[in-house]
Parts: sequence; C-alpha cells; structure tokens
Amino acid sequence: HTKYDFMVVSNRLPVDRVAPGDDSDDGSGWRRSPGGLVTALAPMMTKTDGAWVGWHGAPDETVKPFSHGGMDLVPVQLSTDDVELYYEGFSNATLWPLYHDVIAPPEFHRTWWDAYRKVNRRFADAVVRHADQGATVWVQDYQLQLVPRMLREARPDLRIGFFNHIPFPPPEIFAQLPWRQAIIDGLLGADLVGFQRVSDAGNFMRSARRFLGASVKQQQVHVKDHNGQLTHIARAQAFPISIDVKQISELAARPDIIERARQIRQDMGNPKTILLGVDRLDYTKGIRHRLKAFEELLADGRLTVGDATLIQVASPSRERVEQYRLLREEVEGTVGHINGTYDTLENTAVRYLHHSYPVEEMVALYLAADVMLVTALRDGMNLVAKEYVTARNNNDGALVLSEFAGAADQLKQALLINPHDIAGLKNTIMTAIELSPREASRRMRSMRRQILDHDVDHWSADFLRALNEKVVRDDS
Ligand code: G6P
Repeated sequence: HTKYDFMVVSNRLPVDRVAPGDDSDDGSGWRRSPGGLVTALAPMMTKTDGAWVGWHGAPDETVKPFSHGGMDLVPVQLSTDDVELYYEGFSNATLWPLYHDVIAPPEFHRTWWDAYRKVNRRFADAVVRHADQGATVWVQDYQLQLVPRMLREARPDLRIGFFNHIPFPPPEIFAQLPWRQAIIDGLLGADLVGFQRVSDAGNFMRSARRFLGASVKQQQVHVKDHNGQLTHIARAQAFPISIDVKQISELAARPDIIERARQIRQDMGNPKTILLGVDRLDYTKGIRHRLKAFEELLADGRLTVGDATLIQVASPSRERVEQYRLLREEVEGTVGHINGTYDTLENTAVRYLHHSYPVEEMVALYLAADVMLVTALRDGMNLVAKEYVTARNNNDGALVLSEFAGAADQLKQALLINPHDIAGLKNTIMTAIELSPREASRRMRSMRRQILDHDVDHWSADFLRALNEKVVRDDS
C-alpha cells in the first residue's frame, strides 16, 4: 500500500460515481459530490500530497485507489445494507435530526447502531493500512465519530484530529441517544475535536462531563482509564469553516459569468427584485418557512408577481430517507399552490429547481440575485451565505441570514432573522428589498472583509496548527 503522512477521512469522497451517459459526468465517470464538507476540503486537498479516504457513492462497487482532480483518493466500499443501515439510517435518520435540534424526530434502532460501528471500523482500517508512522489523520463529520478512538487504539503513533461540520446538540437533547457514551468516547480518541461554533464546543464538553464524568479544564478534556489514571488529553475548540474566496471572486469577475447573470434576469422577465434560495433539499434549511413568508407577502400585496420573483434551487439529497421524501412532497405542493395562485402568463412567483448546478452557474445566480435568503432552522455553518457575499464584487445586494446558522457568528452585518418568526421574516425581507444602496454597500463591504480575512485555507491551517501544538496540561 502507498503510505501517506497526511490523511483526510470523510464518509464521502469529493467525487461520486455516475451512470454512463449522465450529463453531470465530468468526463471521467465521476462528478463532484454535494454539500459543504466537500466544498470546504477539496481546495486544501488539491494542494497537498495527502490522501482522502471515503466512500465513492456506489453501493456494492469495489474501486481501487485512484487520483482525480489532483487528489489521491482511497475508496471505502459500502454494501447496499451498509448504505441503508449506516448511511441512511444511523447517520441521517438518527444523528442528523438529533444534532439539528430534533426538527424531525430521530429514530433509534440497534441494527443501525451495529452497522455504524462496523462501518466506522472499516474506515479506521483503511487509514491504518495507508498511514505512515507518525502521520496526521483528520477525521470529518458525524458519520465517523467512532473512528478517532479506533485509530488511537490501533495506532497510538498517529496525530488524530476530528472536525464536526454540523452542530453539536446541547446535553439535554444528546441525552436521548442510547449510545451517547460510546459516541463521546469515540470522539475523545482525538487529540483535537473541532466544531463550527463556540457553543457547539461547549455543548460537547458539557456532554463529556455529564455522560463520561470527564474533567474539563478550559478547552481540555482529561480522559482517564478505569483506574482513574489520566491517559490522554483531548482539546475541544471552535474553528468556523469557510470557502475558497479566490475561486468564487474570480468566477464572479469573469465576463461570461456576468453576462450569464444578466441573461438569467432577462429570462425571468427583468423583475425589480430577484430573491434567491440555494439549499440541499433538507428539512433543516427552513425552505417551508421561506415559502410561507414569501406567499404571505404576495397575499398581503406587499409584493407582486412581476416585481418580485423567488428562485429556489433545491438540490436533490438523501432521497431514500423518508423525511426527505415527505419534505419534497410538501415543498413541491406549496410551490405549486403559490404559483397556481399568483402566476400570470408572463411571470412566475417561484422558480423552483430540483437540480444541482456547477459552481459557474451558481455564481451567475448569486450575481443575478438582489436578496439572498438563508433561513435555516439549524445549520452547522452554511457556506452558501459566504459564497453569496463573496460573489458580490460590487458590494451591492442583501443577505437575510438565520441566527441559527453558524455563519451568523461571522456575518454580523447580515440582516439576521429568526425563521420561526414569520412576521419578523416578512418585515426583514422587505427591509432587504428596500435597503438603500449606501446601507447595502456598508453591510456588504464589512461582510466581504470578514470572509476575505478568513477563507478556507485559514480554517485548515488554523486547525492543523492547533492539532500539532504541544499540549500543556491545564490544571487551573
Ligand atoms: C452536509 C454534511 C456532509 C455531507 C453533506 C451532503 O454538508 O455535513 O457530511 O456530505 O451534507 O450530504 P450527503 O449525505 O449527500 O453526503
């Protein structure tokens, strides 16, 4: 086996297998896989010699290690059963809703948990085979929370980092999980456990204390063995993730993409205001709340079709999980209802697109939109908010941002909302539409500055620097 001194491990590789002839194929039989995790990690991985360990998206298919887009990829195989029990089940119908404020009820099944343990072991084994002596291994996200402990037991020589891309729930909610101790113990195998928000790191440390009796000093969790002997110190800290600023701002300055944005506006009938939502079709994103607010603004006559259009990109996600199927039906029913009621022959109220698009088209959409709506009920970070701001090279446009998204900690000049407060959301959408150019530019400049100073390279460098620091025991 090729050995690496730096490895990233995540459930998904940055590419997904596509069926022959699929138009999302990038020409190699692969396409980019969805979500914020891949968006954030791919730029770093193209610049290092490390390897990326993960699933290649095709059940039952064995794929040998290969290179793609300048990255060395080590595929982990999942069977059809693994996909159902570990991925759709435990990861996305137990942990995902539990970690997102139980917006949907989490399901607890012992067969799912068994599969989660078994598949986590398989990922750990792949790392053990490919990691050089003393290598740094960076494990990603909620699908792999047992891997840090498994690695520490098999390979005490490794430096082990973990980063959770989604929220970590307060102990009062985490308490529901029948396997809460094993999860905390799994994470505490790492030298450094990173979170998006300071509050997520705090929630984790409170759970470590409450459910494992760990002692927590500042940001250090002291892990003891059965005899009460200190075996290891894990640190927990916030590292808010970000985007590839250079890529997005360069695309936003490209004449063909600026032209494409103009064409989108024209195709929409040149309305005064284009509102935009861009999400994976997920119940955490608050798409229903956004549609409700928009519909009421039309019903109240505060907005009219022709003057305002909402473009909602909802990219397909986890389509075999029941809650996602129900959400799709509900969203599509609502969109049909709104359009049936308010559309004219010339203009549409909501342009709903159940597709995913290449980044060039996304940037054109960001440039075409006057107001970006990010109304998540709970979101680890939300990179779409950061991409929109970064694309606004002219410092115009307005960002309506949920205070329940991690991005709200950095983008303080956004128009912040509580998505549950529909009256407040409606008023804020109107404020965004009516914002004076001066005020819009003041806010956008300050947000752009923030992101420019904290792009994704800063994020990975900060995390890896902290991971490699010598830990001084804090007994204060
Ligand atoms: C979020 C998660 C990622 C995940 C992505 C896409 O960003 O934090 O771990 O990869 O959603 O979801 P999927 O289930 O398609 O991998």
